[in-house]
Amino acid sequence: GSGHPRVLRTHDELASLREGLAGTVAVVMTMGALHAGHLSLVRAAAAHADSVIVTIFVNPLQFGEGEDYDLYPRTLDADVAALAGLGVAGVFAPSAREMYPSGVPEVSVRAGRLGSVLEGEMRPGHFDGMLTVVLKLLNLTRPDVAVFGRKDAQQLALIRAMIRDLNLPVAVVGAPIVREADGLALSSRNRYLSGVERAAGLGLSRALRAAAEAAAAGRPASDVIAAARDVLEGGPVAPNVTDVNYVEGVEPETMEGVDDDYEGPLLVLIAARVGQTRLLDNAEVLIR
Ligand code: PAJ
Repeated sequence: GSGHPRVLRTHDELASLREGLAGTVAVVMTMGALHAGHLSLVRAAAAHADSVIVTIFVNPLQFGEGEDYDLYPRTLDADVAALAGLGVAGVFAPSAREMYPSGVPEVSVRAGRLGSVLEGEMRPGHFDGMLTVVLKLLNLTRPDVAVFGRKDAQQLALIRAMIRDLNLPVAVVGAPIVREADGLALSSRNRYLSGVERAAGLGLSRALRAAAEAAAAGRPASDVIAAARDVLEGGPVAPNVTDVNYVEGVEPETMEGVDDDYEGPLLVLIAARVGQTRLLDNAEVLIR
């Protein structure tokens, strides 16, 4: 349809929408402040199922002390308008009280080793909170397919691991990263960036291009990672604005480091703080 999708605020409203859906269902989970990256997931979802449910929920459980939970952009009206015309059956946008009636839940999901490296090391508890809400949203929406972006590669790997380890009856689709024309990966947090910060933020995608070039030239994994690190630490457009959290190359499934004998796909992951804003980006390159 071309009109705005229906907004469901409660579990009961969602359940009655879900009961009325015939055929297969795909879900796209978001925290709102929708951009073209999110909308590409909705299009991918529509290609994989008869109906699409979008969820919009800023999950307090996955934000740490001093992070941007209170400041995270909440733009529900604009989000629902952005979804018009994409054939979305419903938008589930619950309150925090609806999702967590007694505050922090008694029982939750624990992410394990994969949840404690890279982003998990920077943000303790983040992936436990993320997996807990994803499991709740899967149980509430009961989809056949769930679509997630490769932008959050470690999140996607952890969701796949949870689905495997807990035998959840859902197929996962990983969708490509959507970028601005100049390479900056779209993110809800980009709206926080000043002009100077945005220019510095371009260092992430430039570093990933340098890594891809090194891999294409036949360099080993350590050189590929060093090529990315050199771009970031050699000073981007505005030096000293970017504070690099990590630049790592890992085996994509296990997210474990590789040695210089390694051949195969290498996932290069970057996290950096630009002003007050943390930016993430990644790319898969082939080591041969
Ligand atoms: P959020 O950051 O809103 O992202 C929602 C989905 O959009 C995720 O699957 C994310 O990987 C994807 N996405 C974001 N930017 C993208 C881009 N530039 N290209 C492609 N996909 C992109 O990730 C979360 O919310 C939350 O952790 C959530 C899974 C909803 C659980 O709370």
